[in-house]
Amino acid sequence: MANGKEDSLILMKQGAEARVFESNFVGKRSVVKERFSKKYRHPSLDAMLTLKRLNAEARCMTKARRLGVLTPVLYALDTVLHTLTFEYVEGLAVKDILLDFGLNGVDDERMTSIAVQIGVAIAKLHDGGLVHGDLTTSNMIIQNGSNLLVLIDFGLSYTSTLPEDKAVDLYVLERALLSMHSSCGDVMELILAAYRKSSKQWSSTMNKLAEVRQRGRKRTMVG
Ligand SMILES: Nc1ncnc2c1ncn2[C@@H]1O[C@H](COP(=O)(O)OP(=O)(O)OP(=O)(O)O)[C@@H](O)[C@H]1O
Ligand SMILES: [Mg+2]
Repeated sequence: MANGKEDSLILMKQGAEARVFESNFVGKRSVVKERFSKKYRHPSLDAMLTLKRLNAEARCMTKARRLGVLTPVLYALDTVLHTLTFEYVEGLAVKDILLDFGLNGVDDERMTSIAVQIGVAIAKLHDGGLVHGDLTTSNMIIQNGSNLLVLIDFGLSYTSTLPEDKAVDLYVLERALLSMHSSCGDVMELILAAYRKSSKQWSSTMNKLAEVRQRGRKRTMVG
């Protein structure tokens, strides 16, 4: 990626649809997320869809912040290079904290603080009509110093007020916790307790979550 504004780029993550670099934006440590094209798509259609996703990610992140959820500050959006430049959040991914708890024992107080923050943040998004779309523990950072939760990666986010969409959002997180962090105890229970206390629409979402789980189980039995 040739961009005169950035002096150096260090690849942090190469995904299927995006590359993430560490960089410098007017003297501030930053993250550059570049969406690249899918070779099998028609070039002009591809460019259009990439731009739509880029704009949607920027808009959803900004909306999350308006709803009172901490997200990185968006520094720049480049529609030619298909990049978003964010503030670099100094801290540990919730994934790494929980993996460490799995290996070295759970710090109950820290665990509760993290789980409550996750539940409250998702409740704020959902009550505001925003679905994150990729709630995994790698998309959550605990900021150094403040110990506050910062949500990242709004690449699959969308607006919806449907309880079903919110339930699926929670279900994705539940599956991620079960598959990766089962040795941390029932983290989801703590998260959902906080969600119930925080969300005005908790009961319709929780009813749907029960249905979504049921469907998930049936799929597992068939598959
Ligand atoms: N603002 C940030 N501050 C610090 N680290 C970040 C930041 N944004 C991203 N990262 C790091 O880069 C990784 C990848 O970023 P991100 O989750 O946005 O991309 P992705 O998962 O490839 O995206 P997508 O799911 O949209 O394809 C994150 O898991 C995190 O470790
Ligand atoms: Mg991610």
